[in-house]
Amino acid sequence: MKRFENKTAIITGGAGDIAHATTSRFLKEGANVVLTDFSEEGLKVVKQEFDELGYEDQVKTIPGDVRSMDDCFRVAEFTRKTYGRVDIMVATAGILRHHPLEELSEKDWQDVIDINLTGVYHSAKCVAHIMREQNYGRIIFISSIGGRTGRPGVGANYAAAKAGIVGMTMNMAYELGPWNITVNSVAPGPLKGKMFYSMKPEDVKRLESGTRIQRLGEMDDIAGAIAYLASDDAGWTTGVVLDVNGGLMYGH
Ligand SMILES: NC(=O)c1ccc[n+]([C@@H]2O[C@H](COP(=O)([O-])OP(=O)(O)OC[C@H]3O[C@@H](n4cnc5c(N)ncnc54)[C@H](O)[C@@H]3O)[C@@H](O)[C@H]2O)c1
Repeated sequence: MKRFENKTAIITGGAGDIAHATTSRFLKEGANVVLTDFSEEGLKVVKQEFDELGYEDQVKTIPGDVRSMDDCFRVAEFTRKTYGRVDIMVATAGILRHHPLEELSEKDWQDVIDINLTGVYHSAKCVAHIMREQNYGRIIFISSIGGRTGRPGVGANYAAAKAGIVGMTMNMAYELGPWNITVNSVAPGPLKGKMFYSMKPEDVKRLESGTRIQRLGEMDDIAGAIAYLASDDAGWTTGVVLDVNGGLMYGH
């Protein structure tokens, strides 16, 4: 079954790990995908990879920084011009600057809020008017277990941004629902990928344990949840945060 035939998705953080797994799923199920990221180099690598797999027409890339509202509107317009619609927005762009409170600089605070929270707000805002015109849309944010509960090694900046996403999810779901636009979040636990392994080795060790399903998350565990929320199976699901963490919340 192809759930995304004739659908077009934008994925921010398009050169990242979650974006990669999500793109693979969307493509296999028929979607067109526009990947945007501030890493031009990263975008080149993924574009080449998907082209080689035969998806040249289905994948386009466009550099952009989610901190810039203008960049986000440019990406949305590019997508509409290229494929005629914007059905799905998946906002994965994010960074980590984890430090204990006393070592957290103003810059670390601001950078994380600017990208992980304001950037997510921009990503929704730049497609909302298009989705309203279509009377159809699926917006998916990526929160984190770090925004759902206290976790070792996680900075207050990251927790605040990821918890802020939870509030935006409910608020935007309420506001945009009458136009058949759903807004939901996925909140992953630690995943086998470059973001998690960029943390301090002692934090990686502590964070690795504690899941009831006793392994780290795979990118595909998250892509599966995103694809569900992006599909018409989730057409009456809005304002929810789907925790995908192997039961980590229940502790050891
Ligand atoms: N990987 C995990 O363990 C994990 C767990 C919980 C939540 N998350 C969240 O999931 C999202 C994606 O994580 P990932 O594992 O794919 O990370 P990743 O580092 O592989 O990808 C993130 C991407 O975002 C891009 N990016 C950063 N700042 C940007 C900006 N200003 N504008 C545009 N692009 C920008 C980066 O270049 C990178 O390609 C993040 O929001 C992260 O906080 C990840």
